[in-house]
Amino acid sequence: MDAKWWQSAVVYQLYPRSFQDSDGDGVGDLPGILRRLDYLQDLGVEVVWLCPIFASPGVDNGYDVADYCAIDPVFGTLADFDRLVAGLHARGMRLILDLVPNHTSDQHPWFQASRASRDNPKRDWYVWRDGHDGGPPNNWASIFGGPAWTRDAATGQYYLHLFTPQQPDLNWDHPAVAEAVGEAARWWLARGVDGFRIDAITCLKKAAGLPDMPNPEGLAAVPAYPRFLNAPGVLGAVDRLCQAAFAGRDLLLVGEGNGISPRQSEAWVGPRHHRLSLVMHFEHWHLDTGDPAAPLNVVALKRSVGRWQRALAGRGWNALYLENTELARVVSRWGDPQRFPRESAAALATAMYLLPGTPFLYQGQELGLANPRFRRLDEFRDVVARRRIDEGRARGESEEAILAELQASGRDNARTPMPWDDGPWGGFSEGQPWLWAAPADPGANVAAEEADPDSVLNYYRRLLALRSREPALTMGAYRPRLGRHRQLFAYTRETPAGRILVIANLSGTATRYRHGDGRLGRDDLLLATRPVPPHPPVGTFTLAPFEARVYRVA
Ligand code: GLC
Repeated sequence: MDAKWWQSAVVYQLYPRSFQDSDGDGVGDLPGILRRLDYLQDLGVEVVWLCPIFASPGVDNGYDVADYCAIDPVFGTLADFDRLVAGLHARGMRLILDLVPNHTSDQHPWFQASRASRDNPKRDWYVWRDGHDGGPPNNWASIFGGPAWTRDAATGQYYLHLFTPQQPDLNWDHPAVAEAVGEAARWWLARGVDGFRIDAITCLKKAAGLPDMPNPEGLAAVPAYPRFLNAPGVLGAVDRLCQAAFAGRDLLLVGEGNGISPRQSEAWVGPRHHRLSLVMHFEHWHLDTGDPAAPLNVVALKRSVGRWQRALAGRGWNALYLENTELARVVSRWGDPQRFPRESAAALATAMYLLPGTPFLYQGQELGLANPRFRRLDEFRDVVARRRIDEGRARGESEEAILAELQASGRDNARTPMPWDDGPWGGFSEGQPWLWAAPADPGANVAAEEADPDSVLNYYRRLLALRSREPALTMGAYRPRLGRHRQLFAYTRETPAGRILVIANLSGTATRYRHGDGRLGRDDLLLATRPVPPHPPVGTFTLAPFEARVYRVA
């Protein structure tokens, strides 16, 4: 496989609503991002991925697009956007946008036309069906809960929506849809963007005939993933999108890979297929038990990593990530936010980001942020959380139970404003932010961490610098070690020119490491999460809770 520019790049997923506000309206914007490009560059970021900035009613924070080729005024103007592209490119950095091809907003003119009448030329751009027995056409539940169908009074038919009712699904069996979405993508490429992250791409194909799910429990709406997640034929839809939008260009294309298994991954990202560059699979999400007190299952994480590394070795490339807009903060999920907040942030980063693959950081992760302190249900903004609250209340669940669940796993955990300093609203805005919860640690902000050599931020900088300096950490082969060890995550990266050993204790108790392959000295140490006193070469040593070290080995 020829090396591609994005294989050695570090990607930063930026949530524009919460990154930096420049005009005091409490919502982050493009001029705000422009002010912070030096920060991103100093961190070692080469690609910025902007979550949706397109015109949108904001039901799902921009994942409900009303115009693919317009900037939502809350974020700024096209002129701001052009300045952002220029500012990034001037620094040798790149930009990818979030393309949302599976659905539009119900306010998009395409859907407005489609719903107007049964014989509108855009009717079949969306999925319309007659009801069945006085109810929806089939028994599918939407991914966000409730039936996946809504009846539209204008024509008496139902339309399909895998997410909220305000996000009708486009019909990817209709050739005009690929052409229209492709045209929008090409419009941004002409403005200089370097690729896309592609939202919900595994949902583009729905099972032929839209068959019911088996329903032994007699539910009103049944989870229906097998009918629309990575369903047979989805790659045909991907090919139509790629053909219409990306053919013949050197882009970074990252698919949201929900439902893709390691075995299937090569068909998505193997260079010979000319589809995507990378997919972000969801496999390690399942390590979250929902119980914040339960420790990470280190063995299960290693197995998952191993499956993906084996599947794509020499045949594709992995995307490496710990956080995104959908997940709670990793320190709160897999680390120890009470006893070892910094240590666990650094150890998890070490284990993940020295693997073969392209690192993706989600904003604020580089500060080691733990989940903020949501105290009341009315503080949550996310449409999924709001729905959960309404349903829970309707069922008579206790407010405390719902709050505890959302505190542990709500999407708003990762969406609160970026803490730049310890001023009002963390230096994010001069006005009341659109979403707010008290930070877990007021000392975890950019200004304080920049000044502290031992901060998580400065550790991330060293880690990413090491990765870009050492060819073995980009292109070297991956050799897992200690696969059954319940605390240590360990591997080597190897090229004919050298070998690097990564060892991370991903638990809250100390453990011995036995090298069994010669001795390791202080001089061989490339990076460590804690100070390591000078010592002669040794064969075994103790790793403190959430301690990680990186050695050059013979
Ligand atoms: C993806 C996005 C998520 C969004 C959904 C619908 O899962 O990451 O934020 O709500 O797609 O577009």
